[in-house]
Amino acid sequence: MKGVILAGGLGTRLFPLTKATNKHLLPVYDQCMVHYPIGNMLRAGIDHILVVTGGPHAGDFIRVLGTGKDLGIKHLEYGYQEGEGGIADALSIAEDFAEGEPVLVILGDNFTDADLGQAARSFTGGAHLFLKEVPDPRDYGVAVFDDEDSSRIVAIEEKPEQPKSSYAVTGFYIYDRGAFDYVRESEPSARGELEITTVNNFYIRDGLMTWSELDGLWLDCGTFHSLFTASQIVAEARQNGENRFPRIASENSP
Ligand code: DAU
Repeated sequence: MKGVILAGGLGTRLFPLTKATNKHLLPVYDQCMVHYPIGNMLRAGIDHILVVTGGPHAGDFIRVLGTGKDLGIKHLEYGYQEGEGGIADALSIAEDFAEGEPVLVILGDNFTDADLGQAARSFTGGAHLFLKEVPDPRDYGVAVFDDEDSSRIVAIEEKPEQPKSSYAVTGFYIYDRGAFDYVRESEPSARGELEITTVNNFYIRDGLMTWSELDGLWLDCGTFHSLFTASQIVAEARQNGENRFPRIASENSP
């Protein structure tokens, strides 16, 4: 399995910080935000990684990640998304890199200490979602479950005003090669983007979706408060000598 980190977008919610650099290069305590999803990939045994970025600060990634060798990445590629066509548009850039293999996809602002390796190793095809129960899921994709079989997802609703469950779709996904055909089948949403939720709903329609609960903490670092909270969590973990967030950025990194 290969890994794809989606790190494009303009990060407007974090202006003015993101006037200076890409959102995913902002600090989360002692590393850049993007080092954490890379850590998740390496922990899951995935060391062939594509970072898809975009916007005016894309070149900053090379300065921070270089060839990736110092971070423990065997093969690091970069992709460039023109414009802000949405998460599914960014994913479509990974098709050649994937070469038909399944991919673990991580939205670059998602932060977790969960081990994604078990789901990656047992993946046999279709798509796999990691859900997390949250008190207010209105800012996320939200799972709708079958009335009769409460473990079966019948749809994902993107940022619903009245969520039909408390299970948010986190930004960790496993897809087989079919994802790229589903992106081609997608139409832009009302906000003009190709949505990852549309792709997920195609998998559900075709009976090809599985899910598990994300076994760990989860934050989307896209706001000032969550960015701050993520830093606090890492600081505390470091202080307590925990290794839940391995520090992969070394002083030797370029
Ligand atoms: O965080 C989980 C949520 O992420 C899911 O529950 C939602 O279903 C999903 O749509 C997404 O919602 P957000 O509104 O949080 O997505 P956002 O626009 O913040 O983008 C998330 C990441 O995806 C961001 O860190 C960079 C990447 N991205 C996003 C866009 C719109 C790209 O690479 N290109 C893009 O065009």
